[in-house]
Amino acid sequence: MEKVNSNPFKFGNPVEGDYYLARPELHAAVKQFLQNRIHVVLMGPRRFGKTSFVLSLLRDFEKEGYTCLLVDIFNITSHRDFLRQLLRAIRLKEGLKGKLRGWLKKLATCVPKVTADLDTFSGSSSFGLTLGKLGEEDVKEAIQDLLEVLSSLGKKVVVAVDEFQKVSEIDDQGWLEATLRTHLQRLKNVSFLLTGSRKDLILEMLNNPSRPLYRSCQTIEFPAFGPEFVDWIVGRFKTIGTSCKSEAIKHLLKLVQNIPNYAQKVCFHLVAQGCACVTGKEVEEVLENVVRQNAYTYQTLISSLTLAQKRALRLAAYEKGALFNKEVLQKYEITSAPALSSSIKALKAKGILDEEGGRGKVLFDDPLFAYWLRLCFSP
Ligand SMILES: Nc1ncnc2c1ncn2[C@@H]1O[C@H](COP(=O)(O)OP(=O)(O)O)[C@@H](O)[C@H]1O
Ligand SMILES: [Mg+2]
Repeated sequence: MEKVNSNPFKFGNPVEGDYYLARPELHAAVKQFLQNRIHVVLMGPRRFGKTSFVLSLLRDFEKEGYTCLLVDIFNITSHRDFLRQLLRAIRLKEGLKGKLRGWLKKLATCVPKVTADLDTFSGSSSFGLTLGKLGEEDVKEAIQDLLEVLSSLGKKVVVAVDEFQKVSEIDDQGWLEATLRTHLQRLKNVSFLLTGSRKDLILEMLNNPSRPLYRSCQTIEFPAFGPEFVDWIVGRFKTIGTSCKSEAIKHLLKLVQNIPNYAQKVCFHLVAQGCACVTGKEVEEVLENVVRQNAYTYQTLISSLTLAQKRALRLAAYEKGALFNKEVLQKYEITSAPALSSSIKALKAKGILDEEGGRGKVLFDDPLFAYWLRLCFSP
């Protein structure tokens, strides 16, 4: 139940309930695969709603008697981090705590360093210390062991690994990737749902025959919302008596490259400002404010770029197609087409631009950054 006067929009974190617009087709498709123990990889841009979707799917699976786990590895930098996140996911589930304790006891018999802390094991803090003392080989052993435990968590288990492309970014000659593959095959009652935002990395992992995860999962592209999202947003405004033109929301979605997070963010601010009737003009004003609030972040990012990269970035923010056209290059003082190519490549590697589109078209990872560039620089 919503409180009266509360803002009908939310952004930043995963959403549920009234703040979540269901994706029934995707839901049914992914569910069907997982029920038949076909592992799924969901690829989609950041802030597109992947985590919210996964959480809603897992809730559904739990209702049907599955045991579900969500492991978020977005911030991992090492095997130890991976282990920590895996443990965290299990510990967060009330019903599974006992299993974890049992596993720790068992682990203590093979890894003596764990024993010392086991007596004092009462929560997260002492356990963090324990991990800190484990050597790399112990950590690897613990990961393998704990992955094995997943199949004993319940009769039917779904394990979601969020931002899973991170496993490929750890410098371990593919150990974690190979270990995951082994368990994907071995754990007969566990279906894996992997999600990630780096399409290039994910496709390379799954389509390259020399990589461990080659063809191990069904890949699905996370779709953008259709027109139903416009209606939903208009309806959300209506719940607080604000009138809103569909055209204004269509315009907004175009400006934010269909990213639900930014759509909700702009709408949140429209409501917060007490806007009584939403039109294209209000949308643009609020979006501009939101974008300007990020100026510091954008400036910091820009100052880390080379001159050639800065020029390429401006070009990308303004030009819709034909980037390599001679006149276009001249306009942005770019020396040659190969020079532009290599700048774009560097900007993609930094995650500023996206893979999408192929030659002659680029997309910003963060469309608000492009918007800000257009506000600040004219070509
Ligand atoms: N199904 C949805 N309906 C409405 N808004 C959504 C939906 N999915 C995502 N959002 C918006 O996007 C934001 C980010 O969602 P999240 O699931 O964290 O995305 P991701 O995991 O892809 O980065 C949410 O706070 C919400 O504003
Ligand atoms: Mg997420």
